[in-house]
Amino acid sequence: MNSLTILIVCDEGDASSQIQASLPEQHKVNLVSKNDVGTEIDRISPDLIFVIEEDDAKGIEIIQTIQAEYEAAYVIYFSHNQDFVALREVIRAGANDYFVLPEEIDMFAQKFNSIVETAVSQGEDVGLKAFRRGKGKVFSFFSGKGGSGTTLLSLSFAQTLKLESTASVLFIDLNLQYGGAETFLGIEGHRSLVDLVPVMNELNEMHIRNALEFEKHSKLELLLSPCDAEAAEEMNEAFISKLIRTCRRFYDFVIIDLPHSMSVNTYTALEESDKIYYVLTLDTPSFKLFQRIEELFQRLTVQTEERLEFIVNQVSKDNELKPVDLKGLVEYPIALEARKDIKGVQAAVNVGEPLQKSVEDKKLPLPAKDIRKWIRAFLK
Ligand SMILES: Nc1ncnc2c1ncn2[C@@H]1O[C@H](COP(=O)(O)OP(=O)(O)OP(=O)(O)O)[C@@H](O)[C@H]1O
Ligand SMILES: [Mg+2]
Repeated sequence: MNSLTILIVCDEGDASSQIQASLPEQHKVNLVSKNDVGTEIDRISPDLIFVIEEDDAKGIEIIQTIQAEYEAAYVIYFSHNQDFVALREVIRAGANDYFVLPEEIDMFAQKFNSIVETAVSQGEDVGLKAFRRGKGKVFSFFSGKGGSGTTLLSLSFAQTLKLESTASVLFIDLNLQYGGAETFLGIEGHRSLVDLVPVMNELNEMHIRNALEFEKHSKLELLLSPCDAEAAEEMNEAFISKLIRTCRRFYDFVIIDLPHSMSVNTYTALEESDKIYYVLTLDTPSFKLFQRIEELFQRLTVQTEERLEFIVNQVSKDNELKPVDLKGLVEYPIALEARKDIKGVQAAVNVGEPLQKSVEDKKLPLPAKDIRKWIRAFLK
């Protein structure tokens, strides 16, 4: 049997360890509290979901949410009572199977292989494939300091990834008040994220398609900023999180350009990200600011280990610090060192063209060369 990813939804330790102990060893088990179910489903895309009952009726609610948002997930409910009326409700809510704890734990262990078979074949029909597409990766580009190159690098990253692979790539500009990406690409009077606000609660692939703009060379898909402070106010954290979760279901990669301020929207986007690329320049202010941001991350419990990586930008021989200096000072890996190339970058930006226009491009500005090399290694 292949190794499956299993998500156990519970707020209590005992029952979950009992269940875990009865599972074959090769499976990967993740635990999550009720409040974080949505994020975790999107992030790990489990093959099976176990919901463990609590005193309240929340179990049913959770199953309904899982089935409404992630249709094809195979859900098993674990109850502490033989209350058949309640259990019928659970099945009606969309659970595929249920077991009563602790009496039926052995029965569960015996039936486990056939449950897996059913879940997998059900998934092959329709659901799980679409569900699996939920595996799209979300990469956020962030910096506490304005002008670090967050927009240029995130956009070039998305553009190059689109050119160099067959993956579906979406770029989202979350600088809701001022935007930025559209000027780099010379797009005017554009559609934007604001088109999605009225349909936020039922957001689907079609809505997203209708709000897209395209970069004309690579056909990179873009969700641009409304560049409107008033519209920006309507986009709250619930919108941001719904947006990112929906997008990751339809794209292989979602690349996000974040604003420099640490608002609740920024925080939400960071929480939804698989990777956070922190853009740093090689000077003391940039570095000091990062240390403050890192403290803030800790206070907000934004997980940074194995998630945060540096992109060092504007690397040149005149830098005050060297990339190696950073290595001694912080423990995060440096994903990319992008060189400074004022002329090369300006030549493209001034005419509203991306740094790389086709796979065959020979003469690229230096940061675009560095990005391409990084992405080629990353795609291997
Ligand atoms: N490696 C580089 N070489 C040359 N110019 C660069 C490089 N990186 C960024 N720039 C230039 O620096 C300026 C700031 O870049 P960008 O707008 O991407 O930064 P930002 O962090 O998004 O800033 P903002 O605070 O405006 O959001 C732009 O004019 C960009 O073209
Ligand atoms: Mg910017």
